Amino acid sequence: MAAINSNDKAGIPGMDVEMFSVVAHRAVDMVTEYLMSIRSRPVFEPMQSAQRERLLRLELPSSGRSPDAILDLFREAILSHPMGNGHPRFFGWVNSPPAPIGIVAELLSAAMNPSCAGGDHAAIYLERAVVRWLAELVGFPLEPFGMGLLVSGGSMASLTCLAAARHYAATADGWNEREDGLQSRERPPLVLYLSEEGHGCMRKAAELLGIGSKWLRVVPTNSQIQMDVSALSELVKKDREAGYRPFCIAASAGTVNTGTIDPLHEIAALCREQNLWFHVDGAYGAFGVLDDGVAHMYRGLAEADSLALDPHKWLSVPVECGCALVRDGRVLRDTFSLVPPYLRTEEGKGFGGLPWFSEYGFQQTRGFRALKLWMVMEFAGRAGVQALVKRHNALAQRLTELIKEEPDLELLAPVTLSAVCFRYAPPTLRTDEVRLSALNKALMERVQARGETFVSGTTLRNRFALRACILHYDTTSDDLAALIKTIRDTGDQLVQAEVSKP
Ligand SMILES: Cc1ncc(COP(=O)(O)O)c(C=O)c1O
Repeated sequence: MAAINSNDKAGIPGMDVEMFSVVAHRAVDMVTEYLMSIRSRPVFEPMQSAQRERLLRLELPSSGRSPDAILDLFREAILSHPMGNGHPRFFGWVNSPPAPIGIVAELLSAAMNPSCAGGDHAAIYLERAVVRWLAELVGFPLEPFGMGLLVSGGSMASLTCLAAARHYAATADGWNEREDGLQSRERPPLVLYLSEEGHGCMRKAAELLGIGSKWLRVVPTNSQIQMDVSALSELVKKDREAGYRPFCIAASAGTVNTGTIDPLHEIAALCREQNLWFHVDGAYGAFGVLDDGVAHMYRGLAEADSLALDPHKWLSVPVECGCALVRDGRVLRDTFSLVPPYLRTEEGKGFGGLPWFSEYGFQQTRGFRALKLWMVMEFAGRAGVQALVKRHNALAQRLTELIKEEPDLELLAPVTLSAVCFRYAPPTLRTDEVRLSALNKALMERVQARGETFVSGTTLRNRFALRACILHYDTTSDDLAALIKTIRDTGDQLVQAEVSKP
């Protein structure tokens, strides 16, 4: 049999280092051009059906293509149709642009490509450090037993935390949900509480964890769209009286729709009194605590048993980057670890140093998310992160003023952070809710397709609302003025078209 030597790379994704350098430089040039031209391009451009088909029907080439051909195809068919969140006039969802240094970090972390399950390599220690930075930034106590790990995003962070909450409750009641599952009908059902504005990932988590959405209590909100604590307390009481097992309250530090912060301090007190796990979904809003103007609303956050964060939202770390923080890391480890206690790595003992991350979450092989998070935070510093959050909140307040100045626009929710819900509602139409909702939905679709700016929509108290989320580091007051003009003009055109219909 012929020897196989290292020059024969057929079929292997290896590449000469010289060629790598040429390709990588071309990619960097392409990215630079893309970033430089963002403002001059449409925020979003719907794809033509032929363009969609071209991607959907891509065929695996029988033999590999050259890197140049691959980059050409990338530029032409893929880079030309972004989601829009790189543009400063994208206000669609809680999706930030990537911090440029985060783009660089993605290249560097892929070059190292470690698995961060655990071990004794730099990525592990860096993840410990940046998780601590996050906890310190938002004031979540990690001492003495706290633990955190990076996950794919806010949904996975809450799922991880709620798994720990479930384990904590089961253990307290003297059973082992890991072994028994939740199949037994002998035990009272576990009940989870969430406000009507809580994120859908909590429902998914309840279903996946075997709690069942039937046992998810949707707590009404008060006039400020915050979780109504007296209604919550009443629900807990009723569930106890019925013989059920309340186990966790999931509050929001910045709801996805309106950026509302639940009364964390009061909820923390109720959790203490009722011995319930206090989870806070801070995926979007927890970093808002850095804005002195709203910091007081986060009182109680530090009492949470667990906190979900999403650096890929407000911090502009390229997706995916979420973080689950748990006050008592021992519970988290007991929830996920498959390593018997007598074999576990303990700090300072044996080879491999720290306990493995894979004992604290669902993933075994884990990406090097810490590098992009570290680079973005190292580049911004605490002051930079704080300035970003304050800037966005100030812009949201500016947008609120602009809306209030326009007689044909109506604000639909109090503005706490950087999300603003409003609608086009000329005074003559304000009594016709059905028509207004249909009008605003049509308006949103038209605005999205026009490409000048981008807003999304949501439903608030049965009313369709336009929703502008300000998360781009380059957005300015002029961009907000342009947004208002586009909304008003498009609304006027739609009403005009309705009136002139035969
Ligand atoms: C408040 C809140 N929680 C959870 C999530 C889910 O986070 P992810 O999409 O990163 O999984 C979001 C996403 O927008 C959110 O805004």
